[in-house]
Amino acid sequence: MTAPDPFRSLSPIVRLAPAKLNLTLAVLGRRPDGYHDLHSVMVPLVLADRLSVAIAAAADDSLHVTGADVGPAADNLVLRAIAAARTAVGRGWAGAAAAGPAGAAPALAVRLEKEIPVAAGLAGGSSDAAAAVDAALEAWGTDLDPERRLAVAASVGSDVPFFLAGGPALVEGRGERVTALPPLRGESPGLLLVTPRISLPTAAVFAAYAGSGGSARLASEHLAQEWRAGLDAGRLVLRAGVLGAANDLIPATAAVAPDARRVRRALARLLGRPAGQSGSGPTAWVLYPSLADARDAADRVRAAITGGELDVPGEASPFILATTFAAPITATA
Ligand code: C5P
Repeated sequence: MTAPDPFRSLSPIVRLAPAKLNLTLAVLGRRPDGYHDLHSVMVPLVLADRLSVAIAAAADDSLHVTGADVGPAADNLVLRAIAAARTAVGRGWAGAAAAGPAGAAPALAVRLEKEIPVAAGLAGGSSDAAAAVDAALEAWGTDLDPERRLAVAASVGSDVPFFLAGGPALVEGRGERVTALPPLRGESPGLLLVTPRISLPTAAVFAAYAGSGGSARLASEHLAQEWRAGLDAGRLVLRAGVLGAANDLIPATAAVAPDARRVRRALARLLGRPAGQSGSGPTAWVLYPSLADARDAADRVRAAITGGELDVPGEASPFILATTFAAPITATA
């Protein structure tokens, strides 16, 4: 039997890279390495970037991005993730036998269609990186065992390991301890996302975190416990008030970007529902019983902006979307 020749697999490998939402985010403390220990219940969303990866007849990996300005390709997590995966694979790829003594896995050409707003607290770049590792391994006709895959993901960024779970998960440590949670029961909740176009680097928010002992821990532990026991989507929506406040980074985000808090509060007033913050922000989220309800809310927000009733500051118009949790999250009981 001959090994498959990866140079022949010319059709690109396509992956969806979902956004994530932090339903809770407790900061437990600062670690000696400068990162923070977290306790966070996270879910992947239907909102997703699209990544396609193909073996390239070139010396170096390349990245072509459409849909958003993500800065220089060389700084992109996608290329860093592919480089880390190549190192981890070493000579263990399908065509290695024919590649000669120094043969690393071949260069890849990557196309990335951005749908997820950048630097928004939705981990779009981290999800792209996780999808790139998966697609690269398939393009190279190889795989990594779960521990090595996790090590590659964690080396690229704290939010990357979550995306290996493929569904809702409890995320702990710096982000590298990921425990999959079972699917939610019932109809997937609707979710309104509003992202003001305010630049908000995660590192700046963590740097502003005063470490005053956050209050989100109990709510986060309680949610994880309920979810493990089998949580109904309707009950999750009823918890929106508690969850909306269960993010220890909210004060730090407000210190770096006061407008992020103003927008979240104005949304809650306009819609008469609690509004949370995903990750380090500035994305605000509002939970609804159904996608149809979230769509109505998105229309209401757009109309309020047009009518001057709601002011969302930023370099451009805000990103407004009604979406829902990614499909594997829901199942009927
Ligand atoms: O790991 P990543 O590069 O995505 O993290 C970006 C920044 O966010 C880090 O430099 C660090 O300042 C902060 N961070 C943290 N604790 C975490 C995750 C991120 O302090 N658990």
